Amino acid sequence: METRQIAVALGERSYPIIIGQDILELAPGLIQAAGIRGRIGLITDDNVAPLYADRVREIIQDAGYSVAQHVLPAGESQKRLARIEDICGALLEAGLDRASMIVALGGGVVGDIAGFAAGVFMRGIPFLQIPTTIVAQVDSSVGGKTGVNHPLSKNSIGVFHQPEAVLIDMQLLESLPDRELRAGMAEVIKHGVIADAELFDHVVAQADAILRKDLTQLQMPVARSCEIKAAIVAEDEKEQGLRANLNYGHTFGHAIEAVSGYDTFLHGEAIALGMCAASALGRALGLVDDAFVAAQRDCIAAYGLPTRWPELPLEATLDAMTRDKKARAGKLKLIVPTRIGAVVQRSDITREQMAEALEHIRQ
Ligand SMILES: NC(=O)c1ccc[n+]([C@@H]2O[C@H](COP(=O)([O-])OP(=O)(O)OC[C@H]3O[C@@H](n4cnc5c(N)ncnc54)[C@H](O)[C@@H]3O)[C@@H](O)[C@H]2O)c1
Ligand SMILES: [Zn+2]
Repeated sequence: METRQIAVALGERSYPIIIGQDILELAPGLIQAAGIRGRIGLITDDNVAPLYADRVREIIQDAGYSVAQHVLPAGESQKRLARIEDICGALLEAGLDRASMIVALGGGVVGDIAGFAAGVFMRGIPFLQIPTTIVAQVDSSVGGKTGVNHPLSKNSIGVFHQPEAVLIDMQLLESLPDRELRAGMAEVIKHGVIADAELFDHVVAQADAILRKDLTQLQMPVARSCEIKAAIVAEDEKEQGLRANLNYGHTFGHAIEAVSGYDTFLHGEAIALGMCAASALGRALGLVDDAFVAAQRDCIAAYGLPTRWPELPLEATLDAMTRDKKARAGKLKLIVPTRIGAVVQRSDITREQMAEALEHIRQ
């Protein structure tokens, strides 16, 4: 299968996303292209390290670089400031300096932490993303948002720091647990609904193959998702407008994650529920019809993702959505579909309308 290259067009900070199978050998070329002559800090987690770290390290070392490896404990709970201090300490001890580069090998947690570390170590050094989950490939590795959680709020401490390149080797997905694959597909379905009916149709038609991890069928949706996210980020890097479309299903979804205590649903599962609620809102507003709501629900269900949550605590979820709004200085912006492939941003949705949409996923 051929290698695909997608450009994230951000002027001087533009970078390529390279997608293919068995393409880890391209890593040293990307490091050289970034003009790196110093040491490399390879950051990964303790699930990914035993699977892929040796290979990545050897490939980079064979090109003449010295590599210091730092393994984080896996999991969202590790996404905190203390880990940034650990990483900076490990990098300093290993002799990394301004001429060095960080390579992030892992899912979104590793990418967000390592990207943030790269953004602040020595006031910022370059980094390369090698994402190993669908979420990381189609979402977190593209766009330059990096950071960690604060106990009071997720992703509340961080910087925009764009990578030098994103290297997506589809083969790394072979070891990905099924539940993580399904949750990642929620973000792919989201990209289809907000921007590309053809992507949505492919994901529907190829659900069985994709769930069997047929990498040939999976590569197109991953690549297309990256293209969609890259185009949106190029237009609106700092989320002044268009980039908010990527939050489709996320205002409902984040509230669902918060009220369920972050341990019932994976992020993608909460987003699946959020998209179902958003589609009901669209129907109530007369923007989409029953057929849209059913088509999106059937697609989400085909991936084994939740379409209803009977235990949803209505008032608490609405409160969580409103808190989200306060954090954003007053305007709660909801992304509402108008057809498969297009959405609008609405800031005029009442609590009653949100409640009605949430009722839809309680039944
Ligand atoms: N920066 C952004 O724009 C952005 C966008 C979306 C999500 N995120 C963040 O991404 C994180 C979620 O990312 P995620 O879903 O990748 O979670 P994750 O990084 O926790 O990975 C999920 C699990 O899979 C394991 N794993 C990763 N790759 C594997 C592989 N190839 N084989 C076997 N196991 C593997 C991990 O160790 C982990 O246990 C969240 O913290 C979220 O906030 C950031
Ligand atoms: Zn998401």
